[in-house]
Amino acid sequence: MCGIVGYVGHRDVVPVLLDGLTRLEYRGYDSAGVAVLCREGSLSIRREAGKLVNLKTELEADPLTGHYGIGHTRWATHGKPTTENAHPHQDSAGRIVLVHNGIIENFLDLRAGLESDGVEFVSETDTEVIVHLVASYYEGCLEEAVRRTLDDLEGIYAIVVASADEPDKLVTARQGPPLVIGVGDNENFIASDVPPVLGYTRDVIFLDDGLVAIVTPESVVVTDRQGTVVDAPPQRVDWDPVTAEKGGYEHFMLKEIFEQPTAVRDSLVGRMYRRAVEIDLGELNLDAELANSMSELLLLGCGTSWHAALVGRYWIEKLAGLPVRVDQASEFRYRDPLVAENSVACALTQSGETADTLAAMREAKGRGAKLWSICNVIGSMATRISDGVLLTQAGPEISVASTKAFTTQLACLYLMALKLGELRGRLSREAVELRLHSLSRIPGQIEEILHRADDIAAVAKRVAHFKQFLFIGRGVMYPIALEGALKLKEISYLHAHGYPAGEMKHGPIALIDEGVPVVALAPQSNLYEKTASNMQEAKARDGFIVGVATEGDAALAAFSDELLTIPDCLPEFSPLLAIVPLQLLAYYVAVELGCDVDQPRNLAKSVTVE
Ligand code: F6R
Repeated sequence: MCGIVGYVGHRDVVPVLLDGLTRLEYRGYDSAGVAVLCREGSLSIRREAGKLVNLKTELEADPLTGHYGIGHTRWATHGKPTTENAHPHQDSAGRIVLVHNGIIENFLDLRAGLESDGVEFVSETDTEVIVHLVASYYEGCLEEAVRRTLDDLEGIYAIVVASADEPDKLVTARQGPPLVIGVGDNENFIASDVPPVLGYTRDVIFLDDGLVAIVTPESVVVTDRQGTVVDAPPQRVDWDPVTAEKGGYEHFMLKEIFEQPTAVRDSLVGRMYRRAVEIDLGELNLDAELANSMSELLLLGCGTSWHAALVGRYWIEKLAGLPVRVDQASEFRYRDPLVAENSVACALTQSGETADTLAAMREAKGRGAKLWSICNVIGSMATRISDGVLLTQAGPEISVASTKAFTTQLACLYLMALKLGELRGRLSREAVELRLHSLSRIPGQIEEILHRADDIAAVAKRVAHFKQFLFIGRGVMYPIALEGALKLKEISYLHAHGYPAGEMKHGPIALIDEGVPVVALAPQSNLYEKTASNMQEAKARDGFIVGVATEGDAALAAFSDELLTIPDCLPEFSPLLAIVPLQLLAYYVAVELGCDVDQPRNLAKSVTVE
């Protein structure tokens, strides 16, 4: 995730910007830069690919001083992580400079328009269009030019803009990614998150979506997009630096669960275009020829990533009519596996460094498969050895228990299924359109579930004394049963087992008595009735039933001891929603039991050894 900082005031600006960027390093990035402006009208930029230390070394060798400025750490989306693509970007005259976090969906159209007006682009980024647009509208008032520019943009953004012709002024605007303004004494700060600001002030404005702020040393004026001033008083934050990194949440896991609407939205944006009914997975190098010549898709992963692969199989087989094989990487690598001609192997991995997954990828490639990965860490080994990469836009996942990496992997897998379905002629334009429409609602529906976190915490309190749990589901809900059980066992150390609901009678039903809660996933689908009867069978044996159902399901409510609900959606999307209450359930049970949620015993975030 990109990180943004800005400063206007009486201090030497470079140390403030570098300090701020250092405090945003946890977000992950692959290049960094600063722009420094002086009241006398000079504007200088320094940018470096790679870690912040490269930028710091460059600034030590060739120092800059100034009165106001902006800085950025970039997580590449459009264009490689090179110095040319690093922010800040400036207009052709070198008078206006800008940093941006987010994705401009219509940047190709905007770029074409600007190029036909004679503007020359020097980077591959979507960001550069914004600064040229601001320059094209600039008539001496920066905020006015920014507002007019925002009218042209489609997508999500947090931006900070400065002009060398308007000393001591920064203009910032938000639509999507967070922006925080730190209000100081004759100095003001802008950042993507609270930590960069905390060393200087505790008075903070969390800028709302759709607003613009004009920031000078003496004032912060917040307006709407039309320029009407909006009341946005600062709030006092009493967080210590560690709490600040957690965004005020008690644990990284909870923060990351709550980041899922944004993470899923970010993973879809720039890849699906609802109005044009288009899916753009350019990074995969997938074309009609490959989609139609592919004999099968092998999905490989470990743990939570393997569960995502299991969901992917249902989607891809159904929507694209393509045979999908799913393997745990640790098994695949040693099985002497058969890999058919024209196979594609796709690894799912948050870290991109999991030893078994990398070995399985190499095994598949060695046996002739084309190699893809769905990965959260750009530049990781998995991305380097793959022929095509879909980057999940989850941002850094710090909690050992994976949450937002899972839902963003699902989002990417779903887009892959749709794209394959379209290229293989299995889905009509209307079918794609309907699904893109439903998919675009998912981030908001995840938010709805998160609003009910307190109710789920109350359920967790009531079940935390049980010693073992069964999780059951059918179809796309079966991998969610596995993932729900994994979440619970890894952070609360309770025994939890996931099963296909249809397997109950083949053994596991023997476990059921009043001491075994059965978490049953039964949102509306063609398998609803069947799962509901499995639940009744468990109930008849005194099992304690925790149902996961579609809102308004009175029938399931009637025989569940506890009910967790998800909003109504197309059945194939229910994995993206149903996992969220289970993540929260696991989290609150672990808190109730006093477990170390973010660092569970015996586990490491990245399993780089066998
Ligand atoms: C569980 C969890 C692990 C990882 C697994 C694979 O919460 O985090 O099961 O999913 O170790 O890791 P990646 O996805 O980094 O390859």
